[in-house]
Amino acid sequence: MEIKQLKITNFRNYEQLDISFDKKVNIFIGHNAHGKTTLLESIYLLAISKSHKTYKDKALIRFKEAYSKVSAELKKDDTFLKLDIIISNQGKKVLINDVEKRKISEYIGVFNVVMFAPEDLEIVKGEPTNRRRFLDIEIGQISSIYIYHLTQYNKLLKQRNEYLKQLQQVKKIDYAYLDTLTEQLAQHGTEITKKRIDFIKTLTIYAKKLHQHISNFEEDLMIQYLSNYRLKHVNFENVFRLYKDHYQKDIEKRVTQLGIQRDDIRFMVNGIDVSDFGSQGQQRTTALAIKLSLIDFIKEETKHYPIVLLDDVLSELDDIRQTQLLDCIKDKVQTFVTTTNISGIKSDLIEKADLFCIKKFHIYKKEGEQDGE
Ligand SMILES: Nc1ncnc2c1ncn2[C@@H]1O[C@H](COP(=O)(O)OP(=O)(O)OP(=O)(O)O)[C@@H](O)[C@H]1O
Ligand SMILES: [Mg+2]
Repeated sequence: MEIKQLKITNFRNYEQLDISFDKKVNIFIGHNAHGKTTLLESIYLLAISKSHKTYKDKALIRFKEAYSKVSAELKKDDTFLKLDIIISNQGKKVLINDVEKRKISEYIGVFNVVMFAPEDLEIVKGEPTNRRRFLDIEIGQISSIYIYHLTQYNKLLKQRNEYLKQLQQVKKIDYAYLDTLTEQLAQHGTEITKKRIDFIKTLTIYAKKLHQHISNFEEDLMIQYLSNYRLKHVNFENVFRLYKDHYQKDIEKRVTQLGIQRDDIRFMVNGIDVSDFGSQGQQRTTALAIKLSLIDFIKEETKHYPIVLLDDVLSELDDIRQTQLLDCIKDKVQTFVTTTNISGIKSDLIEKADLFCIKKFHIYKKEGEQDGE
C-alpha cells in the first residue's frame, strides 16, 4: 500500500497542495507552525475519516473558506485507487473511485495508517478515554462491523440516558421501552466487548515481543482489557441480565452506569501498573511498543502494511528505540516523517528517503540533497 499522489485544498492553512511520492520514506523538514502536523493529519483523515487532533471536522476548513478537500491516489497491489474527503457546512462526504459512500463503515479500511505522535504517551499515562479512543480507532480501522456496533451502541446509550433523565417528570416507568433499549444495548455491547477482547489478546502477542527488544530483554509487558461488564463469559444473555439487575441503580442515578463506555486497558510491566507507577522511560517504551505492534497487526489482519506517519517523534527517540522502529518499517512500509531538525534522524533512513522542505504551508522537494537543512 502506497500513496502516489496527495492533493489538498483549503485544509487548515494549506490553500493548495499537489504532491507526488516516489520513495518509501519521505522526510519533511520545517520550522514550527509551518504545516508539518497538518500534512500528516490530512493523510490520517483520508484513512480514518477523522482528524487525530480534533473531533470538530469544521476546524479542518481553512479560515474564511467554505469547504476543505483532501484527495489521494493510492497503489494497492497492482491496482490504483482514488479517495476523496470533502468537508463543508453540509457535513462530510467520502468517495472511493469517485463513488460516494453513504456509510463511513463502507469507507474506512481501504487503507490503514499508524500515526506516531507525541500525544501517544497519553494512551499509557492519560485518562481512560484516551485508551477507549485507541481501541475504537484501531479496531475500527480493520473492522467495519465494529464501527457499525459502536455507532448503534452510542445512539442507544444516548436514547437510554435521555429517557432515564426525564423519569423525574413521569409517574410511571415504561418498562417495555426500557427493555427494548436495554436489549439492543446489550446486543451491541456484547459484540464490541468480544472484539475488544480479541484485539487486546492479539496485540499483546506483538507488543510483548517488541517491548522485550526495546527494553533489552529486561522487562515484560502484559496488556489487560478491563471490561466494565466483569463477566467470565461474555454473551448476550449474561450482559442483558447484568443490565436488568442494574435497573434500579440506573433509575436512581438517572444514567446508564454499565457498559463499554466505562472500559479501560491496563499495562503491566514486570507486574507493575505502568500507567500509575512506571517511570517516564517505561511509559515511553510501552507506548512505542503498542504503536509499533500495530504495524504487524494490521498487516496480519488486512494482508497489507499500513502507512506509517511519524510526527516529530523520531529525533526524540534514543538509538535503541529508533533502531527498533526502523526495523519494523524496513523497506516495506511507506513512511512519512516530519521533523524540525534532521540531525536527530539516523543516516541510514535519510539515505533512502526523499527530502522535502515545508515553508509556510508550501512544500518543496530538496533535489539531490541528503545533508539536511
Ligand atoms: N482551520 C485553519 N485555517 C487556517 N490555519 C489554521 C487552521 N487550523 C490551524 N491553522 C494554523 O496551522 C498552524 C499549525 O500548523 P501545524 O500544526 O501543521 O504546524 P507544525 O509544522 O506541525 O508545527 P510544530 O513544529 O510546532 O508542531 C497554526 O499556526 C494555526 O494557526
Ligand atoms: Mg507539529
